[in-house]
Amino acid sequence: FPVELIRNFSIIAHVDHGKSTLADRLLEITGTIPMGDNKQVLDRLQVERERGITVKAQTASLVHEHKGTKYLLNLIDTPGHVDFHYEVSRSLAACDGVVLLVDANQGVQAQTVANFYLAFEQNLKIIPVLNKIDLKNAQPEVVVEQMHNLFDVEEDEVLKISAKQGSGVEDVLSAVIERVPSPKHDRLQPLKAFVFDSWYDQFKGVVVHVAICNGIARKGDRITYASSGKTYEITEIGIMHPTQVPSDVLYAGQVGYAMMNMRNTDEAKIGDTFFHENKEVEPLPGFKDATPMVFAGMFPTDQSEFPQMRSAIEKLTLNDRSVQVTLDNSPALGQGYRLGFLGLLHMDVFNQRLEQEFDASVIMTAPNVAYKMKIFGEKNVKHWGSDFITVLNPCLMPDPAVITEYHEPMVDSTIITPADYIDSITGLCLNRRGQLKDQSYIDDSRVMLRVLFPLSEILLDFFDELKSLTSGYASFDYEDAGYQLTELVKVNFCLNDRDVEELTMICHLSRARETARKVCLKLKETVPRQQFMISVQGKVNQKVIARENIKAYRKDVTAKCYGGDISRKTKLLKKQAEGKKRMRKIGNIDIPKDAFIKVLRK
Ligand code: GTP
Repeated sequence: FPVELIRNFSIIAHVDHGKSTLADRLLEITGTIPMGDNKQVLDRLQVERERGITVKAQTASLVHEHKGTKYLLNLIDTPGHVDFHYEVSRSLAACDGVVLLVDANQGVQAQTVANFYLAFEQNLKIIPVLNKIDLKNAQPEVVVEQMHNLFDVEEDEVLKISAKQGSGVEDVLSAVIERVPSPKHDRLQPLKAFVFDSWYDQFKGVVVHVAICNGIARKGDRITYASSGKTYEITEIGIMHPTQVPSDVLYAGQVGYAMMNMRNTDEAKIGDTFFHENKEVEPLPGFKDATPMVFAGMFPTDQSEFPQMRSAIEKLTLNDRSVQVTLDNSPALGQGYRLGFLGLLHMDVFNQRLEQEFDASVIMTAPNVAYKMKIFGEKNVKHWGSDFITVLNPCLMPDPAVITEYHEPMVDSTIITPADYIDSITGLCLNRRGQLKDQSYIDDSRVMLRVLFPLSEILLDFFDELKSLTSGYASFDYEDAGYQLTELVKVNFCLNDRDVEELTMICHLSRARETARKVCLKLKETVPRQQFMISVQGKVNQKVIARENIKAYRKDVTAKCYGGDISRKTKLLKKQAEGKKRMRKIGNIDIPKDAFIKVLRK
């Protein structure tokens, strides 16, 4: 395919607006996959299959005939969830245009806005498409008006389709061919290839997704990576159609995959450029690494299982390098890891997979954000100048006597909601220390709010609360907005005077008492009664700010056996011993390992 006949595009949409369904239809009508029950083929590729949500961006090449000419269309899939913004911008860097898909019933949602701006900032051609027009409560006129107000889109640019029924889908392909420019690349120039994704395949090793910007890459070529200077031989190269199809060569303008006997995904840095050995070219401006926003400690319940946990974590992070991993050591919990995630969903996905692959129990500490603190008189060499430290683990927060300034991470958020809920949402935002920056109507009945929040306030249950306040009608999206000066304290919790390290948290001064009280109450509900009384305390600087008592309770597991059947008795005792393995011991108190997570979530 000559470059003029190539189009590189992506579909961007809010969660559930039908991106995967449309992608399947596009694959079907181009004959890339057979017609029929192709539920979310792209989602089912590689890593996604295991995770059940679109996390890693995937790519497929389609051939489509338009007005008698065959075109090569490279569809680059993008994930929809807010945690994975960085994946979206990565994939977009390999595109010249996007299909902006909006549900004709739900209308423009928070992630539609965020994704639109990602594409807009990269100067991509945007094709607005209304999906689900078959729904009887679809409101195409209202949604077109929203798109006009927000994105300056004209009515006649908007395609109206039903991805499910297939109507209008052909027009999407025509629009991609007619409106998206062909990639501006040159085959005659020296090779310049852009790596926009990479992952570890159990059988084939490291696989990279590349966009060839200039030149030609062939199987057997020796290529060098700009960032590391390391040279490899291309052992396989090809296109995604929709799975890997070797083609032995990729030309400028094409998008595909390549393998080059790398051992470790770290060697294939996303955003990197490679070129032919000894034919160095100016590398493309790479990507910033994804910055983790949420941190939590993970420890094996039983220290003897640390090696197994380590190998499970190593395996998992091979496929997901956005997880930041550092060794952690705690007097109470022993050896473990401190992990950094892009968001809570990301953390949950990781956690779930860890539980599946590492068949033993893990203690997870309260998720927290990264605070920056200015240390008086102490010379610490970290970001923000030598007198600032970054605190990732609340237990390691220095003595307040030496801290002169506290800074907390902030996010810029977008909320889109029916106007009826404005008052309750404003209340919720204030309650979460949100600062309302802007409020505007996007049509007669829907409002878009811009709110600046401390990240810590929206981390745990903000979205759930927003959904329940608005009967599920509000949508929410956020992005990093740097740091702001604040006042913080460390709150720790004790059971019978023993510190429960995993619950130690840093919180805003104004929140300390209320938070401590809530956690103590929840501990009272979740910690099972023991044969002695337990005192529960929340403290700031050794001072008790909240307390509860858990009454004693006598539990004899064998009581039911009337001292009779010995085998039943043994069975019950064995069951109890197994249960204990899943327990966390604090002093002589046994606590189910998920109790603390329950304490932190509602
Ligand atoms: P994520 O992968 O979670 O981001 O979702 P998505 O945007 O890929 O949406 P998906 O394709 O999974 O579609 C979400 C739901 O909408 C599914 O239940 C689809 O069957 C349904 N759907 C998609 N397109 C249409 C359509 O044109 N009409 C109707 N009625 N339903 C549709």
